[in-house]
Amino acid sequence: MSKIRSHIMVCGGTGCVSSSSEEIISSLKSELKKNGYDKEIKVVKTGCFGFCGQGPIVKIHPDNVFYVKVKPEDAKEIIEEQIIKGRKVERLLYSEPVTDIKLDEYSKMNFYKKQYRIALRNCGLINPEDINEYIAFNGYEALGKVLTEMTQDDVIKVIKDSGLRGRGGGGFPTGLKWEFTKRSINDQKYIICNADEGDPGAFMDRSILEGDPHSVLEAMAIGAYAIGANHGVIYIRAEYPLAIHRLEIALKQARELGLLGNNIFSSDFNFDIEIKFGAGAFVCGEETALIHSVEGCRGEPTKKPPYPAESGYNGKPTCVNNVETFANITSIINKGSKWFSSIGTEKSKGTKVFALAGKVNNVGLVEVPMGTTLREIIYDIGGGITDDKDFKAVQTGGPSGGVITKADLDTPIDYESLKSIGSMMGSGGMIVMDEDNCMVNIAKFYLEFTQDESCGKCTPCRVGTKRMYEILDRITNGEGVPEDIDKLIELGNMIKDTALCGLGQTAPNPVLSTLHYFREEYEAHINDKKCFTGTCKALAKYSIDPEKCIGCTACARKCPVDCISGSPKEVHVIDQDKCIACGACYDACKFDAVIKP
Ligand SMILES: Cc1cc2nc3c(=O)[nH]c(=O)nc-3n(C[C@H](O)[C@H](O)[C@H](O)COP(=O)(O)O)c2cc1C
Ligand code: SF4
Ligand code: SF4
Ligand code: SF4
Repeated sequence: MSKIRSHIMVCGGTGCVSSSSEEIISSLKSELKKNGYDKEIKVVKTGCFGFCGQGPIVKIHPDNVFYVKVKPEDAKEIIEEQIIKGRKVERLLYSEPVTDIKLDEYSKMNFYKKQYRIALRNCGLINPEDINEYIAFNGYEALGKVLTEMTQDDVIKVIKDSGLRGRGGGGFPTGLKWEFTKRSINDQKYIICNADEGDPGAFMDRSILEGDPHSVLEAMAIGAYAIGANHGVIYIRAEYPLAIHRLEIALKQARELGLLGNNIFSSDFNFDIEIKFGAGAFVCGEETALIHSVEGCRGEPTKKPPYPAESGYNGKPTCVNNVETFANITSIINKGSKWFSSIGTEKSKGTKVFALAGKVNNVGLVEVPMGTTLREIIYDIGGGITDDKDFKAVQTGGPSGGVITKADLDTPIDYESLKSIGSMMGSGGMIVMDEDNCMVNIAKFYLEFTQDESCGKCTPCRVGTKRMYEILDRITNGEGVPEDIDKLIELGNMIKDTALCGLGQTAPNPVLSTLHYFREEYEAHINDKKCFTGTCKALAKYSIDPEKCIGCTACARKCPVDCISGSPKEVHVIDQDKCIACGACYDACKFDAVIKP
């Protein structure tokens, strides 16, 4: 790297690749060559910068200039202005959503200011397809230290003392899990990386694997050493082709340098990893179902105990950890447990990566210290609600979680606090909703997902979630009855108490939590046949105010189903049986005569 005067980093995450980042890289390289700078300026394809809503992103090092929404045709100007003349290309700089101020450096942006990157430390910084770049940023130093200076118990102690808890959703202490697996005496043990990531909207694990695959491989080797395993498996959904491609390159390069294989760092530790593909079933992220799937069996959960630490893959002791959990390990070994445990809250240490999405200005991946408040994430980092609308709720924990309302925006986030307000951390999905979101519809969306993904093994989940879905469907179609609310609560609690695995045990959460915080919306759907937001089309009744209508005919001309009648200059009327609630009449009327549901 020393001969290189400047690096142009281009995001090579899935989002930016699908928005032409490969073409941007080719254009930048050809412009550099044309101008004779290709030997001193290097174009690097990095992992995801996290700021997905602004991609494709190009960052110039050491100038520290950050360009957003770059197109291949911008390459010429970037090279001629920024690289040759040292002048910024103003039009490609990021504008803060609230102030509209243009910012050149990422460290000045609110999106990054409050972030603290441990798991994502190398994403957007190194080329994930070059092991030498990972090594240049202390890569494989932790594994070397572990294998040459530490016993298995030393490693477990450091991870235990750090307070790291599993990032896959359950929050189980990682060091303790490693200790249990180490204590299970067997000649064969396994370590598995859970890269199934089935939450709708979540992409934390995919981004880590795409942006920094070696951080996971190195951590798996450290974990394997600590528990006494010599074989690792990465279980990843086949829908993640870029992450799989980069993992395959990383595995090959690590083997070539002897960082996987026999006698790693000249020790007597042998370890290698294979990749197994999942077909994208949400339930296969549950560790017992995952293990069955890895074994080539049907991906169905089984009762615990026995836990995988006692009897897992092939009936042998197996430690299953999440991608993000692994991505924290090498920093803990390198910097120490005290450093890690100084970040976060009393019971939740370190940071958490969230996939921030929905009605928020800055959409993307954010990594913040545990204890950061939702308000800071949504308003400071996320830049507030889109179109200046009113915040209504945020769903954390994906289909297993619940909604959090305005009243709890200042709650410092950790595993316990989220549970105490009726939601959960989950794997890190965070969907922001505004005044236009119907909470009954949101609950129906999540329940439809879990109902679809239920493996069908146990009756409460298979049949119970179907019955709950049918009730919600009736309510959103205007056919709900007052008893439905009690039925939903009763069924929901019964499923939670009796379902076999975490999928069923948490599936009713979005319904129960929206019922708790937004009961009046359910009641309006059932009793008044009203959907406040106009989302539930069967309840969305547009009407015309006869006092205001002047008979201009604009609405009738726009109506796609011709259900507005009336002669010119006379009051118009909507045929409610034919209306499909598209809202075109509301937009067309200049006299505020159309009444929104
Ligand atoms: C329905 C269901 C889906 C799950 N999906 C995932 C997943 O995609 N990734 C993951 O790491 N953990 C998932 N889990 C949690 C795993 O069962 C397991 O607890 C986790 O992989 C352990 O790793 P950790 O201790 O590092 O969090 C899921 C659990 C349930 C019940
Ligand atoms: S709770 Fe649902 S997903 Fe889990 S075993 Fe039962 S039917 Fe399958
Ligand atoms: S909402 Fe759409 S379908 Fe209904 S009356 Fe207005 S324009 Fe016609
Ligand atoms: S556009 Fe408005 S004012 Fe004109 S006919 Fe329709 S409802 Fe009446």
